Amino acid sequence: MIVTIDGPAGSGKSSAARQLARRLGFQFLDTGAMYRAVALAGQREDVDWDAPDQLAQIAQKSQIELSQDRILLDGQDVTQEIRTVEITQLTKYAADNTQVRKILVEAQRKFAEGQDVVAEGRDQATVVFPQAQCKIFLTADEKVRAQRRFLDLVSRGERVTLDSVLDNQRIRDQQDEERRIGGLRKADDSIEIHTNGMTPAQVVERLEALVRERMH
Ligand code: DC
Repeated sequence: MIVTIDGPAGSGKSSAARQLARRLGFQFLDTGAMYRAVALAGQREDVDWDAPDQLAQIAQKSQIELSQDRILLDGQDVTQEIRTVEITQLTKYAADNTQVRKILVEAQRKFAEGQDVVAEGRDQATVVFPQAQCKIFLTADEKVRAQRRFLDLVSRGERVTLDSVLDNQRIRDQQDEERRIGGLRKADDSIEIHTNGMTPAQVVERLEALVRERMH
């Protein structure tokens, strides 16, 4: 069975999807982490960000592995490193790159072969797994999302202000929505859930109930 969870940054989908996968005994596919890992690989190789072919080549030869809650780039744990403000900003070069998207979409489908998966991202229901049995679109108001992201970054030792997080989020929302291929769009058959005012635990419970309903 495939469950997709799409939505904008800060909608709470990452932690919800991870916990949902754990509860169901499914594998968790964090596709944002894959785009981030490609950006990190590009940065490490000092890629020319204006040369899409170069980044595509790096994506092709890089080994990106997701194992439980960790992400490995060429065998090295980069779970923390891909979440910095800098890599978050550079990730648009990976996400906007058609060739990179092709490579990662293929890798995502391969990951799901023969196993139950909760796949989280922007294009999981629309592009990667249109046949998914349960499609969820998670969202929340931008201020609520920025506040969550802010607390998350501060807890990880990043020096940011709420205003800067909100500004960056607006830029990223716009980029995600305007992306021609793989942009953020709700699939017609997705169930939309607004998480304003819901605790993370309530979100997971709601999702689990939805999926279990579909399983029967
Ligand atoms: O979910 P996230 O914040 O880790 O995603 C990082 C970026 O990667 C996000 O701005 C858009 C991009 N992304 C994408 O284009 N397609 C996906 N399936 C997942 C993420």
